[in-house]
Amino acid sequence: MRVLGIESSCDETAASVVLDGRIIESNVIYSQVKEHRKYGGVVPEIASRQHIKAIIPVLDEALENSGGIENIDVIAVTNGPGLVGSLLVGVSAAKALSLATGKPLVAVNHLEAHLKAPFCGFPDNPPPEPDFPHISLLVSGGHSILFHVTEEKRTVLGATRDDAAGEAFDKAAKMMGLGYPGGKIIDDLAQKGDPTRFRLPRGLKGRGEYDYSFSGLKTALMNLIDSMEDLDSGTINDLCYAFRESVVLSLLEKAEKAISTFPVKSLVVSGGVAANSYLRTKSQKLSEKYGIRCVLPPKILCTDNAAMVASYGYNLAVKKQWADPSLNAFASSQWTKRGELSGNSGR
Ligand code: KG4
Ligand code: ZN
Repeated sequence: MRVLGIESSCDETAASVVLDGRIIESNVIYSQVKEHRKYGGVVPEIASRQHIKAIIPVLDEALENSGGIENIDVIAVTNGPGLVGSLLVGVSAAKALSLATGKPLVAVNHLEAHLKAPFCGFPDNPPPEPDFPHISLLVSGGHSILFHVTEEKRTVLGATRDDAAGEAFDKAAKMMGLGYPGGKIIDDLAQKGDPTRFRLPRGLKGRGEYDYSFSGLKTALMNLIDSMEDLDSGTINDLCYAFRESVVLSLLEKAEKAISTFPVKSLVVSGGVAANSYLRTKSQKLSEKYGIRCVLPPKILCTDNAAMVASYGYNLAVKKQWADPSLNAFASSQWTKRGELSGNSGR
């Protein structure tokens, strides 16, 4: 089954064609970063307008790369959580395409799509199959959630109590005058940083069950910056090192607590922050320590893309969970509440 995925929840307009939920035949991503950079973050009104400009060319290119709309069996679209004005561009395009061609439509929860990303891949590097039970860490610009996943159910063990990990990176970069989006910039500068110069606090270290907190870390960074006369580039690199280390070690402290509590077969990491080089290395080391598999998506599938949408859309299509023309978009999810979640794309 060939699924066309459409993603427009934030500042990427993306379309992709995925075969049988696993193999990516085309993956087109138009990033709006340059439109938002001068404002230091995503401006929702600009994002919606950019999606309107980009959606048709992006769809055309994705379909051209995989033999056209005739080859498509199902259309999958992200309908939340995200910026509603942005989501509605993708949702409207998907509905129009579905009505015009008669191909069925499925509505994909963006977080479900991120969780599926590690299990889809390119023909030259086929993806792993999921194994159960596993611990799954979803870390993006809007969410930081730790799950215990079995074949039957997914349980939220903990989540951030304030900022998401990606949001913390973006805000820290802004404080240091580094621009947007901050995660990749901090990650790159941290490679040149001195690991020993600064130490920043780790939120909820040794307490708070499986929850995360990054607001204290953000304040500590702000106070450190305020105490300095000037921020030379060497100091910025050292601060980036300390900040990245603190975020990553906080994330993995709780992941380790989960791995040592529940007997699991893998640690799976997904979402934009899963592109972080330090998190990737440390996740691998942690998995080796416990003799379990570490599953990380290729970096291009960590940040927003439509391949993960098509891939999860396949799961819905197999179960014939079709969406109808009244499909709407939604802004926020209920996923951060501790406890069991149904496996489907409810809010
Ligand atoms: O998953 P994503 O593309 O969008 C959301 O669903 O939120 O995640 C975007 C987030 C941004 O906050 C960005 O700064 C962060 O992922 N990010 C990174 C890296 N690359 C992207 N954070 C840390 N290190 C990176 N290399
Ligand atoms: Zn995302």
